[in-house]
Amino acid sequence: MKTISIFNQKGGVGKTTSVVNLSVALAKFGKKVLVIDFDPQANTTTGLGFDKNNQEKSVYKMFYDEDGNYKDYIVKSEDGPYLIPSENSLSGLEVELVSLDQVERLQMLDQIIKEIKKDFDLILIDCPPSLGLLSLNALVASDSIIIPIQTEYYALEGVSELLKTYDTIKNSIKEDLEIEGVLLCMFDKETNLSYEVAEEVKTFFKEKVFRTMIPRNIKLAEAPSFGKSVILYDEKSKGARAYMALAKEIIENIFRKNDLEKDSNDDKTEDKKETEEVFENPDENKEKNNKNSADDKLDEEKEIIDKKDDKKFEDGIVKKNKFSFDQNKLVNNEKRD
Ligand SMILES: Nc1ncnc2c1ncn2[C@@H]1O[C@H](COP(=O)(O)OP(=O)(O)O)[C@@H](O)[C@H]1O
Ligand SMILES: [Mg+2]
Repeated sequence: MKTISIFNQKGGVGKTTSVVNLSVALAKFGKKVLVIDFDPQANTTTGLGFDKNNQEKSVYKMFYDEDGNYKDYIVKSEDGPYLIPSENSLSGLEVELVSLDQVERLQMLDQIIKEIKKDFDLILIDCPPSLGLLSLNALVASDSIIIPIQTEYYALEGVSELLKTYDTIKNSIKEDLEIEGVLLCMFDKETNLSYEVAEEVKTFFKEKVFRTMIPRNIKLAEAPSFGKSVILYDEKSKGARAYMALAKEIIENIFRKNDLEKDSNDDKTEDKKETEEVFENPDENKEKNNKNSADDKLDEEKEIIDKKDDKKFEDGIVKKNKFSFDQNKLVNNEKRD
């Protein structure tokens, strides 16, 4: 059992999209997943098909349950994962908990998760776009963090603050807090900028960067308006296949390989093959990509793939073993900003 926070104080980098779709993909591979929507904007709650304005059950109300009946706040989404929904009132929690002492305030979510975690294989927490009390609670309650980074200008902006917060929690209350991985989001094959940013992030975070990247894909942006993950909305889309590939990579990192085989039935094995081929070997699978849904076909037609850049990008991929990063690179980067 592992608890993972999806953490980056920048808004719009792909945290919520990743929590929703990764949780559904993990559930498709047979994992029992609980999602905690810890952002008062409650986009994960709506993304998994629930109404954020009408929540009898929410993580906010759970904090005020003196009897500790925490399981009562868990709902099951149609897409597979379990969810503790959020609601806008959660934003008031910081002020409301002011009477508690500092350490107690930071460990609120951790205390709750301790009571429910034995029922799940994985817990994913969607963090708000800030470094305030909610995010700190999420970090204290987690075994590791996933850092989504948008492949855009200033991708590494704010990363030193993020890592400072991570270090503070690691050096005080949660010394075994790990970095599970850095996830490149909204990767656009058509732009050199995406490749350059991906290289830059890899130079900085090295083997901590997931092999799987999430492409920019319109289906990922459309699915939430139907209250669905992209995997239910359009399972053949590039977005759906990328999150399936990411789930597989994470399961392989966390659980034993034979565990993955045991948990997957034949259909799911097909899914795995497909995601593996498409996202770890893009050139060989161009033909296969053409079988995608109508919009994806259009995407494909528009794509001008610079093979050299593809090769350069592949070369930049380093197998994951030990985390280290180049502090000078970050300093230079922030100076440039
Ligand atoms: N890979 C992607 N392709 C296209 N749109 C995306 C992708 N990832 C996220 N989006 C869109 O970008 C916006 C911000 O994403 P979101 O996951 O809500 O970020 P965050 O939770 O970090 O604020 C949303 O409108 C979302 O639908
Ligand atoms: Mg969000």
